[in-house]
Amino acid sequence: MQTVTARAHTNIALVKYWGKKNQELILPYTNSLSLTLDVFYTDTSVQFDPLLETDQFLLNGENVTGKSLIKVQRFMDLIRSEANIAMPARIESTNHVPTAAGLASSASAFAALAAAGSRAAGLDLSLRDLSRLARRGSGSATRSIYGGFVEWERGDSDATSYAVPIQEQVDWDIQMIAILLNRHEKKVSSRSEMANDVATSPYYPAWIENAQTEVDTIKQAIAARDLNQVGQIAEQSAMRMHALTMSAVPPFTYFEPSTLQAIAKVQELRAQGLSCYYTMDAGPNVKVICSARETPQILAGLSTIFPKEQLTVAKPGPGIQYLPPQQRSD
Ligand code: ADP
Ligand code: DP6
Ligand code: CO
Repeated sequence: MQTVTARAHTNIALVKYWGKKNQELILPYTNSLSLTLDVFYTDTSVQFDPLLETDQFLLNGENVTGKSLIKVQRFMDLIRSEANIAMPARIESTNHVPTAAGLASSASAFAALAAAGSRAAGLDLSLRDLSRLARRGSGSATRSIYGGFVEWERGDSDATSYAVPIQEQVDWDIQMIAILLNRHEKKVSSRSEMANDVATSPYYPAWIENAQTEVDTIKQAIAARDLNQVGQIAEQSAMRMHALTMSAVPPFTYFEPSTLQAIAKVQELRAQGLSCYYTMDAGPNVKVICSARETPQILAGLSTIFPKEQLTVAKPGPGIQYLPPQQRSD
């Protein structure tokens, strides 16, 4: 059967998804909203092959076994059952994003796998159905089907939980600077930490109660192209999410000392009149939300404490793409 290659870009949530009401279907408690980025992405090729005994998964040129392989196999089972085929597949993926470091590799990974896998199985899914399928691999992947600003509508069933593009072509000046403080794989996955926070943080009911206001307000701010308002809400959502990890049993944080240094620097630059705001995901790395116009000054400020190699500028990125095999960039 033919090999299909897809490229999906990562997205960084401005209003975070943190907590599932249904683990099996990956249905979240709240809506979330993100920006897809151009520089971080995953390329994945899938080929079904009746001669294989089981699914094979190569990530960045290395054969993967264990938990990550099982996740991919379970995901392929969903595709096989929908396409009504039984063959194993050969899956080759390259992350142009650090894996499992809180830069949303699972988002680009499962969006790319959903697109390549479904098409290789002969399915021709709509973007909405691709988003629903990607969701089953990793919640954040639901949003990586689309470019620009994207909302994940939580829904209350497999059929009603999917992403919706809010502003695919971002025609105003907003971007991010990723500060790569630690590229190592996290010891505590987003999946297990969010489940523990739902179960044990006394603040989780308040998280659910607040989320919709944040989504509604940030959508107005995006429509008004108001960087400061977008940034303020993003900071609030990120800090509230991290407050859930700190208030869980056992208490936990993804922050490292350098995370706090980066936050302090962003605050200092803002006090100097620059419009910059921070967000963090399930890892220590910090992303700064800012304009392209002020990026040179913000980079200059950040590089007084972080080497330039740790700073990556990312612009709004596109939605899912299919590539001819020879266009893989690895
Ligand atoms: P991140 O912050 O990078 O999203 P997660 O813990 O959410 O971290 O997801 C990382 C996991 O996603 C990896 O351990 C692996 O199981 C899976 N993953 C990452 N990249 C790929 C890929 N290209 N293809 C399939 N699965 C992947
Ligand atoms: C902090 O999508 O990685 O990045 O659904 O269990 O695979 P699973 O988790 P994942 O969680 C992402 C959490 C976040 C916030 C966000 O992307 O909205
Ligand atoms: Co993830």
